[in-house]
Amino acid sequence: MSEVPLRSLLFIPGDSEKKLGKVDDCGADAVILDLEDSVAPANKPLARELVPAFLAERPREKRKPQLWVRVNPFDTGMTVEDMVAIMSGAPDGIMQPKTNTPEDVRRLSHYLDALEAANGVEPGSTKILPVATETAIAPFHLGDFATAGLERLSGLTWGAEDLSAAMGASTNVDASGEWAFTFKMARSLCLMAAHASGVQAVETLYVDFRDDEGLRASCRAARAEGFTGRIAIHPAQVAGINASFMPSAEEIDHAQRVLDAFAANPGAGTVGLDGKMIDIPHQKQAERLLAQAQAFGAG
Ligand code: COA
Ligand code: MG
Repeated sequence: MSEVPLRSLLFIPGDSEKKLGKVDDCGADAVILDLEDSVAPANKPLARELVPAFLAERPREKRKPQLWVRVNPFDTGMTVEDMVAIMSGAPDGIMQPKTNTPEDVRRLSHYLDALEAANGVEPGSTKILPVATETAIAPFHLGDFATAGLERLSGLTWGAEDLSAAMGASTNVDASGEWAFTFKMARSLCLMAAHASGVQAVETLYVDFRDDEGLRASCRAARAEGFTGRIAIHPAQVAGINASFMPSAEEIDHAQRVLDAFAANPGAGTVGLDGKMIDIPHQKQAERLLAQAQAFGAG
């Protein structure tokens, strides 16, 4: 993974001036300005005006948090219109919902090639984060991301709500309240595909935004499994997500000691630390962890 993983990505409905007004102080590592399902059809034109204006007031070099946009999927016929509307504002990335295959990402990437050039945006600088489990076919293609050579691919995330709708499922949880088997499977495939592709693994949203304790427990479990960050739907979720996906003091200390051990043995591929063998993957993981701690330490 070359990029520093984002801990929290907060959704903001793109037609809500009031909610857009919360972005600068929300504390999220990224926000996702939504043009898709949180915006009713009648309000899409309004969102296509508000979002680029909002972006333009916050040029990339001054931006915190990162500003991403979720566009409408290809089967709505609205993707081109959305993309043309927003690219003047140079979003940091595009969330692509209802992605069926890596070829969908490639198609969006071609749009970006043209729209970056048309808007004076640095070529290749706009990232893509697909929601890669929202249709019945999508989970079957997750493994293909690893070999698709998609340079803009920044992460993979998954969603249970649209997948339920796609299957006519009346629930996505089992009797104990856990994800039902089909959704667990989609989640795990997404997690493995992200790591196989060397990109961020972004956990789906936690619906009950008043349950901070439950959110934190769920985030800790997700991080322990290998997820690197999480979607938020309410500003009250940001602090819990950031804290849960932040490397702990012990992890930071260990990572520093890993790097120190390699620095003390220049050219070595493996070294010993506390009686254990560590090798290049440990070094890379330590570098990533320290970069994340440094990038988002103030969050
Ligand atoms: N972004 C920015 N501000 C938000 C917000 C969000 N996602 N969600 C809530 N707020 C603001 C509210 O406007 C409110 O502001 P105020 O105190 O100035 O009145 C404050 O936070 C408290 O909100 P609250 O009353 O607790 O929630 P709500 O009932 O207004 O909104 C939701 C609940 C779920 C509708 C709202 O959180 C939301 O729109 N979430 C994003 C949904 C989305 O984008 N989904 C798409 C991905 S699945
Ligand atoms: Mg959806």
